[in-house]
Amino acid sequence: MGVLRTKSVEDAIRDTDEPGSRLRKSLSAWDLTVFGVGVIIGTGIFVLTGEAAGTRAGPGVAISFVVSGLVCALAALCYAEFASTVPVAGSAYTFSYASLGEVVAWIIGWDLLLELALGAATVAVGWSSYAADLLSQTLGLELPAWLYSSSPSLTEPNLIAAAVVLVLTAVLCVGTKTSARVNAVIVCVKLAVVAVVIVAGLFFVKASNYSPFVPPTGSRGASATPADPSLWQDLGVPLGTFGVGGVLTAAALVFFAFIGFDIVATAAEETRNPQRDVPRGIFGSLAICTVLYVAVSLVITGMVKYDRISVEAPLAAAFRDVGAGAVATLISVGTVAGLLTVMMILMLGQNRVLFAMSRDRLIPGWFAKVSEERGVPVRITVITGAVVAVVAAFTPISDLAEMVNIGTLFAFVLVSVGVVVLRRKRPDLHRAFRVPLSPVLPILSAVASLVLMGFLPGLSWVRLGIWMAIGVVVYFLYGHRRSRLAQAERSAGGA
Ligand code: ALA
Repeated sequence: MGVLRTKSVEDAIRDTDEPGSRLRKSLSAWDLTVFGVGVIIGTGIFVLTGEAAGTRAGPGVAISFVVSGLVCALAALCYAEFASTVPVAGSAYTFSYASLGEVVAWIIGWDLLLELALGAATVAVGWSSYAADLLSQTLGLELPAWLYSSSPSLTEPNLIAAAVVLVLTAVLCVGTKTSARVNAVIVCVKLAVVAVVIVAGLFFVKASNYSPFVPPTGSRGASATPADPSLWQDLGVPLGTFGVGGVLTAAALVFFAFIGFDIVATAAEETRNPQRDVPRGIFGSLAICTVLYVAVSLVITGMVKYDRISVEAPLAAAFRDVGAGAVATLISVGTVAGLLTVMMILMLGQNRVLFAMSRDRLIPGWFAKVSEERGVPVRITVITGAVVAVVAAFTPISDLAEMVNIGTLFAFVLVSVGVVVLRRKRPDLHRAFRVPLSPVLPILSAVASLVLMGFLPGLSWVRLGIWMAIGVVVYFLYGHRRSRLAQAERSAGGA
């Protein structure tokens, strides 16, 4: 009983003013856009473009980016409406608590651990290999096996990845405004590198590399190991690698490159004018990134034939390939710097979701304590940092990007449905931003996310199912009885 109880929007907003758990309102639309770009541009474009073009779509990967961007734009409309109605930390978690009920909110909060904490660990491992590569390319320094391993284990951990996570955790503890400043500097470096790739790369583009633009199904790619079959393939739909199916399978992979615009919504509570600025931050960062991704992928696949593209470090390798080694080094430096903000903001988003869950007592309230001095939930920040560091140090994370993608797309489905539900339940609420053509667009958004999920491997669906089943058990063991709403129901019943 009680699993469908919802937390009223008014309560959600009132909670943000509770002494001891009040976040500082310091961010503007500009800060949010920079935040968005800081987390969005990362492993997706710097690393996964190579795999997507080389093993799934060829130059057609540019179309994959457009497809993925469109799915995200639809979801972004829904996130923007929610964030402008419920400007409270916690993003998808908070939205579903207000619309779909406690158990769905819990499921989303649990699911967001996949997107945020696991995402941060994934990027940390990616970062460590770029850092190791850079050290060896520039200084000739090879890191010892006890410090760095590209496929870590208990005996050979990836301590570099863990260390970077801990340093970033310390920055986050200093305060959100400071994190935003660090982020702004790094975002500039990252955008400069992307601009160099596009402008310098144009000189090396050969039209012949674009032919065929979408290689036919069954073409031989850049890697001997073929991509795992997608769920659709497992279900007998003949959409394999390359061809139209390949473009869509690549879209599901490069979706990772867009993850992060939704995190802008997690900072709603720390925004001075959330109703206006959160939609601006979401759309601004998404639009900038989509344009850059399409441009970068066109340049890279124009420089190198898709079946020779590097699946590990495609951008740097493309420049080395054409003899521009200095540009390649510059790209590696930019990647090392750029991935820092991705990890930092993924963890920031994670902290805010856990903060909101703790404030609602779905996890113990002890976590939600905000430092008076810094306006930051320090306990959650430190614990998240420690967990991400351990995961990054000991886990080989090759196929985890797909787990992160499926978890995030699942959250998009629930948020899109939530918009329709909240409109019906609470038509009276002030919505500074409204999804046009509702319910058509929110439903289209849910369906588009589901279809894209189908292009991920069947195995990631199984893993998602297991993770969710564990989450439901945890909910019934703890939050179901201890949540604030459960307590309120009990005292109302006893009165
Ligand atoms: N979008 C982020 C990246 O590509 C998560 O690294």
